[in-house]
Amino acid sequence: TTNRTFTMIKPDAVANGHIGAILNDIINGGFKIIAMKYTQLSKEKAGEFYAVHKERGFYGELVDFMSSGPIVAAILEKDNAVEDFRKLIGATNPAEAAEGTIRQKYAKSIDANAVHGSDSDENAKIEGDFFFAADERF
Ligand code: CMP
Repeated sequence: TTNRTFTMIKPDAVANGHIGAILNDIINGGFKIIAMKYTQLSKEKAGEFYAVHKERGFYGELVDFMSSGPIVAAILEKDNAVEDFRKLIGATNPAEAAEGTIRQKYAKSIDANAVHGSDSDENAKIEGDFFFAADERF
């Protein structure tokens, strides 16, 4: 699955009305939607999803924020998906995100940074499997 990545449109971007614009950017960026759902993470599920950051100072805030409202989760397909998607979304801190990137356009802060994108092929598989069963992929 090296041609796939996983994304979430985070609670800030959903609340600010950016689902449509972000999906448009993703599709225009050449990504195909393999799976998608509109859902809300419990605190427990958000903590599990971000367990890799458990020891980081921002973990508590991250879990609170990511469970604070609905998100859109999706598996995306494209050649070189992980790297190309990270280019499309821009730097984690929107203040450092390049012009025209999703985070530069729609994000407000490093926590409320509009979208998540997997950082490796290995994590893309783990994260996609966290949200989607085999019969939810097309
Ligand atoms: P995301 O790609 O979803 O992965 C972890 C998230 O933690 C990250 O986006 C940011 O929204 C958030 N975060 C908050 N502070 C930091 C930080 N100092 N470094 C990295 N990520 C951070």
